[in-house]
Formats: sequence, C-alpha cells, structure tokens
Amino acid sequence: MLLDGMSDKRGGALVVRGELGIGKTALLQGVRPSPDTLVLAISGVEPEKELDFAALHRLCAPVLPGVNRLPAPQRHALEATFGTGTEGHPDRLLVGLAALGLLSEAAAERPLLCVIDDAQWLDQATAHTLAFVARRVHNEPIVLVFAVREPNDRSELTGLPELRLEGLAEEDARKLLSVRFPSPFDGPVRDCVVSEAQGNPLALPELSRTADVAGGFTSPGTGARPSPLEADLRKQLAGLPRNTRIRDRSSVADGLHR
Ligand SMILES: Nc1ncnc2c1ncn2[C@@H]1O[C@H](COP(=O)(O)OP(=O)(O)O)[C@@H](O)[C@H]1O
Ligand SMILES: [Mg+2]
Repeated sequence: MLLDGMSDKRGGALVVRGELGIGKTALLQGVRPSPDTLVLAISGVEPEKELDFAALHRLCAPVLPGVNRLPAPQRHALEATFGTGTEGHPDRLLVGLAALGLLSEAAAERPLLCVIDDAQWLDQATAHTLAFVARRVHNEPIVLVFAVREPNDRSELTGLPELRLEGLAEEDARKLLSVRFPSPFDGPVRDCVVSEAQGNPLALPELSRTADVAGGFTSPGTGARPSPLEADLRKQLAGLPRNTRIRDRSSVADGLHR
C-alpha cells in the first residue's frame, strides 16, 4: 500500500515491531519496490548507539552530494554535523530540515525507499531526525520502513504507523519445523518445541537443535513414545502460566538436560 502511493508522489512510514527472531528483517528484505526506486538501507549497530547522527551519516552517504542544493543554513548545519564544514552548528531542527531536503532532492528523480533495520540501535539523534522526516513525507515519493526489536527504549518512533509481528500460527510453525528440521522428531518433543517457540521462526529451529542435542529425537521405527523425562517435562510445562513459558525459551533445554 505504502509503496503503491510512491508513484503518485505520496509517501509515509511504517515501523515494524516484534521480538527477536519474529521475522522483521525477513519482512524488510521481502519489500519489493518498483525497479526505478532508489533504496537506502542501513541497520542500526550497537557500538554506534551513543554517537550522535552516526546512522544518519550512513543513511545519507549515497545522496550527500545533494547537500549543495540545500538552503545555506540547512547545508551549514548538516556540514557542521558531519564535520565537513565550520560555518554552521549542528542545530537539530536545521539538521532535520536538511535531512528532509536531502532525501526530497534524491526523490525528485525517482521514488525513494529508506529501510532502517535494527532501529533499536540507532543513535538517539538519528532516530529523532528520521522520525521528524517520516512525519513530513506525505506529499513526497518517499517511504521509510523501520524495524525495531521489542521490548526497547526507543520512544522517538512512537506515533508513526506501526505493524506488530506476531508468531506463526501453530500449523505454520509445524510446517516450518518439518522443513527446517526434517529429522525424525519425537511427537511429544515436537509438541513441546512448537509450544515453547510461540510461533517464533528463529526459536523453532533453535529449540529443535537444543532438543536434538538433549536426545529429544527418536530413531525411525522406534515408535513415538515419550521418554519418562520428556513426559515429565511436558507435564511441568503444561502447568506453567503461559507468559512464563513465553519468556524463558531456554526452559526446554534446561528441562531436557535436568
Ligand atoms: N514467515 C517466516 N517463515 C519462515 N521463516 C521465517 C519467517 N520469518 C522469518 N523467518 C526466519 O526466521 C529467522 C529470524 O528472522 P529475522 O527476520 O532475522 O527475525 P528478526 O529480524 O525479527 O530478529 C530467519 O532465519 C528467517 O529466515
Ligand atoms: Mg532482524
């Protein structure tokens, strides 16, 4: 939907939210803009979280030559921020306007898609600036898509349209498990893994591997009866509150190793 509007010079933003492994990066990588779209893509990196405007610098690098077409105060502010000029000072409002101007310049020739993964690790100044831009692109062929891991302390993106990713449905989780981990898999252990993973596509194979190492598989032809240990673990899990089971995914491993 968002991308469709770009051809009519309409833009917007979307913040994809969800826990680790739920499929945010996969979703972002699946975004297919029209072939003429310019894509600027970065991921937040934890070591640069405390460096003001570090992520903005990486995002804007390919379009930075456009800085010369910005009004002087914005140009000077951006140059001061990125250390390439001494005339201005890194005023946050001017930097926000400059970032908007720079991206608008780039989008004058073709639609522009900015993909910002792992936004939980953006430096705060960049997060503020990109949120500022995101709130002002309705009439520009510019779309910003963020992915941010939950939970986080990233408040700057609050208020932008968001999509919360939930786990796969149980049937899909079972299908994925059989494709990603096609070994003969003991029924009760498989049930346990599916239940523990809560539809998280990363947790499914991880927990399966753990169960495998812990001897949670049966060989073909040996039948699918759970071992007394597995049966005991399943009983313990069934008795736990659901939110407790979600929070500690290592419990399958712990249980099987106990
Ligand atoms: N809908 C899906 N179906 C199957 N596998 C998926 C799906 N979404 C994600 N995955 C896989 O799950 C793993 C974690 O996904 P990823 O996008 O890296 O999660 P996140 O970015 O939310 O931490 C990856 O190996 C990815 O290929
Ligand atoms: Mg990711």
